[in-house]
Amino acid sequence: MDKLIVTIDGPAGSGKSTIAKLLAEKLDARFLDTGAMYRAVTFAAMRKNVDLHDEQAILSMIAATEFDFERTDGPMTVRIDGEDVNSDIRTSHVTSHVKYIANSPAVRSELVRMQREYAQKAQRIVTEGRDQGTVVFPDADYKFFLTADARERARRRLKDLEAAGETVDLDKLQQQIETRDAEDENRKVGALKCAYDAMKIDSTKLDIEGVVAAILDHIR
Ligand code: C5P
Repeated sequence: MDKLIVTIDGPAGSGKSTIAKLLAEKLDARFLDTGAMYRAVTFAAMRKNVDLHDEQAILSMIAATEFDFERTDGPMTVRIDGEDVNSDIRTSHVTSHVKYIANSPAVRSELVRMQREYAQKAQRIVTEGRDQGTVVFPDADYKFFLTADARERARRRLKDLEAAGETVDLDKLQQQIETRDAEDENRKVGALKCAYDAMKIDSTKLDIEGVVAAILDHIR
């Protein structure tokens, strides 16, 4: 089967993960959730008491830790030193600390290297994040940029967090999402941006199937 790289970028809660997962199944490709990589590094550093502002210490911690993002059949499972941390990395506490890791150029370049290595191994990949179509895979076969109203994105996140047993206020969640959008958009490296050659899709009023159908239509 031919090599394939499909990138899906967009802000928090735009539906990237769910859509990328479904697309990967339909296209017989692997799925990569790069947000989970930033989250896993943040979680590992906090657990190991590594200063989130100390780039060199974070890089040494990454080198000394076994991160497993390879199991991509079905939902992506993230393991740190063999332990399944899939739900630990998605708490609000981790979310509010990811920026320190995501803002570090040295840590980003190490994660970008891992993402490219993953694509090389997988051959066919649907990858989602903030900088996949702009920085990591500028020559991707197909690029998409998903957006949605901040209120709608907050509603989606609320559902996820409630399902995970967290109680959160919708207004507060929307505010946090807007703050994170601004941080993601204004980062010096790997900022959230629509690639000039990406197809933009607003998912505010579309259901998951609608977005997947629009993407598949474009690809085929
Ligand atoms: O997509 P998710 O919400 O899991 O991403 C968590 C955080 O990781 C984002 O807010 C962003 O700061 C960072 N991130 C990034 N580059 C990516 C993916 C995620 O900086 N490619």
